[in-house]
Amino acid sequence: MSSSLPTLGSVPDTAPFTIRVAGHADTTAYMNLIAHADPHDPDPFGLARDILARHPGRPLSHHRDLCLLAEDSTGTAVGALLGGVPRWVLEHPGIDTLALTDRMISHLGMIHAVAVHPDQRRRGIGRALIQRAEERFTQAGYGVMTLNHAPELDGYYRSLGYTVDDALLVHLPPQRLIGMTADDTRMSAKPLRPSVRLAEVPGAPHRVITSLLPGASLPPSATFDGTRLQY
Ligand SMILES: CC(C)(COP(=O)(O)OP(=O)(O)OC[C@H]1O[C@@H](n2cnc3c(N)ncnc32)[C@H](O)[C@@H]1OP(=O)(O)O)[C@@H](O)C(=O)NCCC(=O)NCCS
Repeated sequence: MSSSLPTLGSVPDTAPFTIRVAGHADTTAYMNLIAHADPHDPDPFGLARDILARHPGRPLSHHRDLCLLAEDSTGTAVGALLGGVPRWVLEHPGIDTLALTDRMISHLGMIHAVAVHPDQRRRGIGRALIQRAEERFTQAGYGVMTLNHAPELDGYYRSLGYTVDDALLVHLPPQRLIGMTADDTRMSAKPLRPSVRLAEVPGAPHRVITSLLPGASLPPSATFDGTRLQY
């Protein structure tokens, strides 16, 4: 890099940034940035190293994974986002057939991590990364974005249109409800198309993601009896 270019810490607040798909050559910069999303883990999001080693491919950037990088005007990486398949979907006992697993991983997306270099925060880079991820998932046919985050970020994600909760409940066809919680973190969700809703259902302890999958659409009269949705 030329010595006439500004260093990371001296980039002016108004400097533009761009967002692109991260590739194999970006691995070190990407891993260093994404580590800020979980500083207590010795190898946070190590999965991303393997993803970046693969060839890119649809429907997201690396098949069902998404690796985005934000760069400042000097080409220095300043932010990173990792999205893809929620691990719980692959392990949940209620998602009990390959066909249902396949439908869930192609309709319910997740942002695993987003991080911005500490010198570059509060310039809209995190917001832009999240919005770009939402666009990519929407174009790929997903109906809802989900993410886990610390309670300190409740306001941040609400401002980005997420419904903040302690659990995710998903309506599966025909009248099943499955749930997922995470210790000490929120599980927030945002519909990516108007037909998908986060419905309040009498008897259900949290909002219910409905109309995500074909055959799973809740009428307003629906209730939950503790075992099944009733309508
Ligand atoms: C969370 C994070 C990605 C936000 O990125 P960012 O580029 O700083 O965020 P934006 O510039 O898009 O933020 C816009 C607004 O969100 C709010 N906001 C941003 N970071 C916040 C934080 N850490 N806590 C509370 N509010 C926050 C502010 O209101 C800000 O607006 P302002 O400029 O008027 O203050 C960044 O702080 C970060 O990398 N944190 C460490 C990693 C992390 O916690 N990741 C999230 C969990 S995976």
